[in-house]
Amino acid sequence: MLTVRAPATSANLGSGFDVFGVALGTPADVVRVERAPETRISITGAGSQYIPEDPKQNTVGAVADALDAPAHIKIDKGVRPSSGLGSSAASAAAAAVALNALYDRGLSREELVPIAAEGEALVSGEAHADNVAPSLLGGFTVVTDDDVTQVDAQIPVVACLPEQSVSTRDARGVVPDSATLEDVVDTVGNASTLTVGMTRNDPELVGRGMNDAIVTPRRTALIDGYDDVREAALEAGATGVTVSGAGPGILAVCHQQDQREIAGAMVDAFEDIGIDCRAYQTHVGEGARLY
Ligand code: HSE
Repeated sequence: MLTVRAPATSANLGSGFDVFGVALGTPADVVRVERAPETRISITGAGSQYIPEDPKQNTVGAVADALDAPAHIKIDKGVRPSSGLGSSAASAAAAAVALNALYDRGLSREELVPIAAEGEALVSGEAHADNVAPSLLGGFTVVTDDDVTQVDAQIPVVACLPEQSVSTRDARGVVPDSATLEDVVDTVGNASTLTVGMTRNDPELVGRGMNDAIVTPRRTALIDGYDDVREAALEAGATGVTVSGAGPGILAVCHQQDQREIAGAMVDAFEDIGIDCRAYQTHVGEGARLY
């Protein structure tokens, strides 16, 4: 039996819609695999009751199919579904690494990205690699149609996960079809600033570069309490705040010394409006690990 831990991720980072992603130190999914004549999946952990175990309806089943690697697959969910923290991507990335090793397929982490993304298509209707890429490769990733690039960034973050759900399909439904040239120019500037910030491990540049006037404002309307929580995090010292993935998770970038206060401020702001929330004080971290 092989075991793989694959981390939660945060995609978009505001200005990098469908392009940017980061691996988070915590939470993570753990997947165990052993060879079998046909694929069978069992799931425990956070939100497991909402995830189908039928391989035809499960992201991990799609990965097993794509690798022609039937197995008994046990998934222990640390990343809650519909969180904006790349829950299905963490399982898909873990399964891709585990099954690639179990069947000696010899694929590189980069080659596993499109395979793990196949699983994402089952959940969101489209194959996005912006969560599976950082979960597989770690650090900060830039995904385009043809390529993935990666930087081993070290940036402290708070990932705040409220007890509410936003489906990726709904969150994609509010994305506008077009944008003004002015907004596109602003967003390119911000995305570029963010990228430089990642290469310099500079939370100020990363935070500033997360601003986005095109997609994020439409999505914040789907998250109860977003504006209050963002304000509270910024007052507590966050250098930038945005929606994590499709939401409802909220990501705050910060300096290490402000992390605890920011996490407390975000939890308090959600509690003030009657919403429970869990705040992960973590950092941009490593990708999937095979044990
Ligand atoms: N980039 C995707 C989105 C991430 O924001 O819709 C979720 O799969």
